Amino acid sequence: MATSRLLPVLAALLLSTLACNTVTDFIDEFRTPVVLPTIGFPSETEEPGEPGGPTSTFVAPDNPNPGAEGIGDPYFDDLGNGGYDVQHYDLALDVDMDANVINGIATIDLVTTQELTSLNMELLGLTVDQVSVGGVRAEFNRDRGEMTIYLPEPVAGNQLLELSIVYHGTPGEDEDGPVAEYSEGWYHYGHGVYVAGEPTGASTWYPVNEHPLDKATYSYAVTVDADLEVAANGYLQRIEENGDKSTHYWIMEDPIAPYLTTIGIAQFEVQEYQGPTGLPIRNYFGADVSQSVRDDFALQGEMVAYFETVFGPYPFQTYGVVVHDLDLGFALETATMVVFGDGFTDEYVVSHELAHMWFGDHVGLKSWQNIWLNEGFATYASELWNEHAYGRDVLDENIAANYQYVAMFGDFMTESPIGNPGPDGLFNEAVYVRGSLALHALRLELGDRAFFEIIKTYVERFGGGNAEIADFIAVSEEVSGQDLGEFFDGWLFQTELPPIPEMGLSSDDFEE
Ligand code: TRP
Ligand code: ZN
Repeated sequence: MATSRLLPVLAALLLSTLACNTVTDFIDEFRTPVVLPTIGFPSETEEPGEPGGPTSTFVAPDNPNPGAEGIGDPYFDDLGNGGYDVQHYDLALDVDMDANVINGIATIDLVTTQELTSLNMELLGLTVDQVSVGGVRAEFNRDRGEMTIYLPEPVAGNQLLELSIVYHGTPGEDEDGPVAEYSEGWYHYGHGVYVAGEPTGASTWYPVNEHPLDKATYSYAVTVDADLEVAANGYLQRIEENGDKSTHYWIMEDPIAPYLTTIGIAQFEVQEYQGPTGLPIRNYFGADVSQSVRDDFALQGEMVAYFETVFGPYPFQTYGVVVHDLDLGFALETATMVVFGDGFTDEYVVSHELAHMWFGDHVGLKSWQNIWLNEGFATYASELWNEHAYGRDVLDENIAANYQYVAMFGDFMTESPIGNPGPDGLFNEAVYVRGSLALHALRLELGDRAFFEIIKTYVERFGGGNAEIADFIAVSEEVSGQDLGEFFDGWLFQTELPPIPEMGLSSDDFEE
């Protein structure tokens, strides 16, 4: 890859019977000890406090209210919900591939963050058969993508609740997503299923608090015909054969945002090995994915090793990709198991998606406005990989070509600054390409030493949590000891393209 190329990543972006006993055992086995007592509601059949009865830690709240319908994202009113914080989703899914029908039980552990009478979750389409809270049946209401669950009794703040939602249907039939363009979610393509949607899509296949602020751990028990494989986030704990069906148990032990969850179902060939750092890598290739496409992923272990030197330790327990044998025109950085099609797998996109494990997956977004922290960083990471693998000249050529490209065509990409691209501009090319240039400009301005210390400090400080652009600026100023207000304002919050004086690059030289 000695030639400079403009990021193709972006151009393409247009883009019932469940084994209850085993699932329960599995959940108990997995679940980490909880600090809070679980709320049980008084029920007709069991007295509080009796052996086997609900654990009654019930405190009557003073002034309970419905939880908010949105978490407060300035771009998307309805996304996420208020009043609680999900800890863990356990998803038991029975998938009928011929009919594209799923039967699901979602068991969701959450902690209330206020006194509540009801709470909302996102769920798009699908039929809800039954909801229970703390083991007691609960009433619910559906209104397009929002489901309201009425708690059997008002609940105080800081209580652990376990919700169980039984549902079924064909996912993705209701196209009426909140942010339709990039919000596909579950997609059935005949001989396979992929799941990819950002900023939303998780709610096409399970009930969820659909915002990156509410990260949670996950466990999956996916039952499919025995000739199929299932790929998901985390690690494959075991496969249980049961006649012509098999159940695939996956566990994601690190908290992740809903848009980063995925499963893939098809007759995959599985490739497993350890990268140079000892990280387990497992790739799932669709049966018709060519050898040359498979080879495009051969450097992932080396990329992990290199990125660790510039970003800090790889943040999860595993890595891998699920490559479907169809041309998707995009890839999505679903945590530890990135979704690919077979037409878009060059070194740029392979390194870009891997870099998202640090930027987006480990360091999450506080709100969608901050998307530059994901896409600008992952795009610049590919340039860093280029520099590492092919030399500084290649990097310089790419930067100069990208600068020229943005100088000439930036106006067509977006009318909004990349630090506030608007709900429709989240995945605008400018966020990627100009976003990557901004980081290179910062590096040249401060020098390598300060720049890479900033990156590592930022990942270390916000990893496992969420960040906004102001957090990155604060780290940059803290580490460099400089006032960078003007620098960041020009690159992120104005539309005019700032110069990169160290490379003699100025937008005046590239008049349209
Ligand atoms: N985050 C993806 C990337 O740059 C791009 C993307 C945005 C996407 N929304 C999506 C991919 C929805 C699939 C589906 O790598
Ligand atoms: Zn990306």
